[in-house]
Amino acid sequence: MGRQIAIDGPAGAGKSTIARSLAKKLGYIYVDTGAMYRAMALYLLRKGIAADETEKIEAACGDADVSIVFADGEQQVLLNGENVNGLIRTEEVGNMASASSVNPKVREKMTELQRKLGEESDVVMDGRDIGTFVLPKADVKIYLTASVAERARRRALEYEQKGMTVDVAKIAADIEERDYRDMHREHAPLRQAEDAVLVDSSDMTIEQVEARLMELCAAKKDDGKSFFA
Ligand code: DC
Repeated sequence: MGRQIAIDGPAGAGKSTIARSLAKKLGYIYVDTGAMYRAMALYLLRKGIAADETEKIEAACGDADVSIVFADGEQQVLLNGENVNGLIRTEEVGNMASASSVNPKVREKMTELQRKLGEESDVVMDGRDIGTFVLPKADVKIYLTASVAERARRRALEYEQKGMTVDVAKIAADIEERDYRDMHREHAPLRQAEDAVLVDSSDMTIEQVEARLMELCAAKKDDGKSFFA
C-alpha cells in the first residue's frame, strides 16, 4: 500500500494545480481522476451518445479502454491507446464528464483503475470521491473549495490564457450546475469526508494553499508516519 494523499473538492477550486505541485515536492505520483472521467466523456461525445442514454453508456464502458501512463511525471490519459490529454480540457467535455459520471458502471470502471494506482504507488490523487470512496484509508484528506465567483474567475483566466473567448457568467452558471450534479448524484457524491480538513482557497494564493497542505502532511509525520522521501 502506497502513501496516499486525497484531495477532493468542486470544479475550479485549484485541486489539480495544488495536487501536481504537492506530488512534485513529495516525490509522489499525481493522479488526476477527473481526466479519466473526461476521457470516457470524450468517447461518448465522439460516438454521439447522450448523458441520459444509460444502456449505450454502459455498453461503451466495455468498448472504451481508459488507461494512464506517466511521461516526465505527467499523467497521460489513453483512450483505446490514443493519448487524449490535449483534447479533454474543454467545457463541453467537462460538462459531459459531470453528467456521465453519475452512471454507476462508469464510476466502477474508473474506481478500479484509481484504487490500483493508489495501491501500487505513493500518490496525491484528486477528484470528487477520493477521500470518501476511492481511498477511504488515505493518510491525509483535504477538501479544497472556493466560492463560485472566484472559481469562475480562475476558470475564465485559464481559458483566456489559452486564447479562448470566455463568458464568465456562463462559466459561473456551468460551475453551479456541475456542483449541484456532483454533490447530489446517488453514487459516491462529492462531499467532505468526516476526517478531511477543509481548506477554502477563495482568499489564498497558490503558495499559501501549498504551504497549508505541506503543513498538514508534516503534522502527519508527527504521528510517526513520514510523508517525505
Ligand atoms: O475535476 P474535473 O473537472 O476534471 O472533473 C470532471 C468531472 O468528472 C466532474 O464534474 C465530475 C467527474 N468526476 C467524478 O465524478 N469523480 C472524480 N473523482 C473526478 C471527476
